[in-house]
Amino acid sequence: MKLLFKINLVLLLLFALGIAVTARVSHQLLQNNARDEMIEQAKLLIDSALAVRSYTSTNIAPLLETQIKYEFRPEMVSAYAAISLLRNLREANPEYKQFLYREATLNPTNPANRAVDWESDIVQAFRNGVSQTSLVGERDTPNGRMLYVAKPLKAGAACLRCHDTVDVAPTTMIAKYGSAGGFGWKVGEIIGAQIIQIPDTLARSRADAAFRVFMGSLVGVLLAIMLTLNLLLWWMCVRPITKLSALADRVSLGETEVPDFATSSRDEIGSLAQALSRMRRSLVQAMQMLET
Ligand code: HEC
Repeated sequence: MKLLFKINLVLLLLFALGIAVTARVSHQLLQNNARDEMIEQAKLLIDSALAVRSYTSTNIAPLLETQIKYEFRPEMVSAYAAISLLRNLREANPEYKQFLYREATLNPTNPANRAVDWESDIVQAFRNGVSQTSLVGERDTPNGRMLYVAKPLKAGAACLRCHDTVDVAPTTMIAKYGSAGGFGWKVGEIIGAQIIQIPDTLARSRADAAFRVFMGSLVGVLLAIMLTLNLLLWWMCVRPITKLSALADRVSLGETEVPDFATSSRDEIGSLAQALSRMRRSLVQAMQMLET
């Protein structure tokens, strides 16, 4: 087996082992990172929805105080503003297209916001004190695995103006939404949850894209190292050794007049070349002594 072949075989085995270990570790790491990143993104969106909620109730609702006597405008409702904001964000930015926002409520004013089974479980978990701040989880759906992030929605004193009893609520609001739901909330009660749902495949595909770039560059760097090592080995060892062995071959066959191996290098190959030429000279002298 040739020297280069042996070295390349060992290198290939080492590189393959390194690539396999790195792939395993980095794949898991990138998947977890992508998932964490999406959870952070979802939390940021939920907080933006909260911010627009408070902006609407403190800055917009007071401006429509006169209007409410004649006609109820949903634009003054914080829930309406938050849901609309997130819908616009999704429509305007492809990267948020898959982030579904809901204000899932157990007893909603607008039936479209009624919590469905799994959403009610989350609201109940908040009501039972499982978490005060947020819940993160995964669930299987007919459309694949989903990741969700949820934060509780609490009724404050100001909310009871519309969400206490039908008698207290603005008549224009009752005229628009009816009196079937969204009433009887208590101050401090967790009445629903802000939930963002994202397909798990989104996190996975982001991680896979990063994984491909990472592994691609790793393989590229290893190949470059291998190529450089091969060139160096060939230039510094294989080529001079092949020449030296051809020279030694000729001398061994009796060609004592072959020219010396020309080298100025002081490395191991250089000393070998010098040693060989000394040996040849000694051989020639010994033969001459024998002849005389
Ligand atoms: C001026 C009346 C009014 C006030 C004040 C008000 N809401 Fe509402 N709220 C509504 C109306 C009307 C809807 C239905 C909006 C829609 O989807 O068109 C609603 C919807 C909601 C929803 C979505 C679920 C549902 O009932 O359809 C939540 C959650 C909610 N409100 C929470 C709150 C909280 C929390 C506060 C206090 C910070 C509050 N609301 C203050 C009128 C009000």
